[in-house]
Amino acid sequence: MFFLKNAEVIRNDRVGDGLYELEFRAPQIASHGEPGQFIHVEVKPHPAESLSPLLRRPFSLYGVDSRQGAISILYRIRGLGTSILARAKPGECLSVLGPLGRGFTLPAKESVTLLVGGGMGIAPLVYLADCLTRLSCKVTVLYGAETASELVALEKLEQKEVKCHVATMDGSKGYEGFVTDLLTCVHAGESASMSIEKQADLLSGSPGESHTLSSGRTLSDREANDIHRQPDIIYSCGPLEMMAHVARFADERGIPGEVSLESNMACGVGVCLGCALKLKGGNAGYAKVCSDGPVFPMDRVEFTVGEEARLQ
Ligand SMILES: Cc1cc2nc3c(=O)[nH]c(=O)nc-3n(C[C@H](O)[C@H](O)[C@H](O)COP(=O)(O)OP(=O)(O)OC[C@H]3O[C@@H](n4cnc5c(N)ncnc54)[C@H](O)[C@@H]3O)c2cc1C
Ligand code: FES
Repeated sequence: MFFLKNAEVIRNDRVGDGLYELEFRAPQIASHGEPGQFIHVEVKPHPAESLSPLLRRPFSLYGVDSRQGAISILYRIRGLGTSILARAKPGECLSVLGPLGRGFTLPAKESVTLLVGGGMGIAPLVYLADCLTRLSCKVTVLYGAETASELVALEKLEQKEVKCHVATMDGSKGYEGFVTDLLTCVHAGESASMSIEKQADLLSGSPGESHTLSSGRTLSDREANDIHRQPDIIYSCGPLEMMAHVARFADERGIPGEVSLESNMACGVGVCLGCALKLKGGNAGYAKVCSDGPVFPMDRVEFTVGEEARLQ
């Protein structure tokens, strides 16, 4: 079920260089929106003197407050549409279609989950983390960006009951390098913990020994066991190369996982075929990112770096 609404802009804050967080009043979308789903926003020049850009722009649900009837998105200015969006003022109304698409599959209560996000790919994972903590899941987030000032969702994540490790390419915060380098460390737990411990608020010790957070708090046995437990499921969103690495990591260990894909979109509701991705294999068919996705099981996607992802 989706809605077409003129949604009032509550705030449209600049949160970094070319990065914005926009909150809409949209009660129906807030009460139906699931993590991984997206909204399709009409962006019109102001005053509306031209038809360009004609197409709506898709953005993942970043935050949902169903009690206040509000939803938020986190976005980066890329071109015309997002430049116009950045000028939207509180009180203005924009046409919003949503919630659209197929979101993440939520696991059983108390599952051990690992979320890997890069750049704006963190947006759907922040809302997902909210839903997972409500299910009493153990949530570890690996969050990568080019530089510290782009880690704009970090504060939000740190307010949640999640463990968050960061990586920046320039080393300005957390681990210096690819966020996927942290995957092995987190998975290996004790053996590699030192390398990530220096970078973030990580754990020391090995299974059976005392486990103490760098804040000084000692972990319960259950928490300590969870650290060394393989994730039950991995979720990822971000650059294709990053998701390809995460998918390989999951595949090698037999861990199920889901990725959220991006594609150029027109209608956003499965009608125009503008977002179709070719299925891989002899019986080639197509999947529509907007309505069959944007979330797909990792093992159905063939990541061809430099090209669009294909689905198996
Ligand atoms: C399901 C879905 C969810 C999304 N969620 C978010 C989100 O939460 N936050 C966010 O910032 N963006 C998100 N995006 C991407 C966002 O929709 C685009 O950045 C936006 O449509 C660009 O519009 P524009 O008019 O500013 O740029 P355009 O004028 O359309 O494009 C400008 C330039 O940017 C390039 N470009 C456009 N889109 C992308 C992209 N996705 N990645 C890399 N380069 C691109 C174009 O090729 C072009 O060179 C999502 C996309 C999809 C499909
Ligand atoms: S955008 Fe039209 S079918 Fe997906």
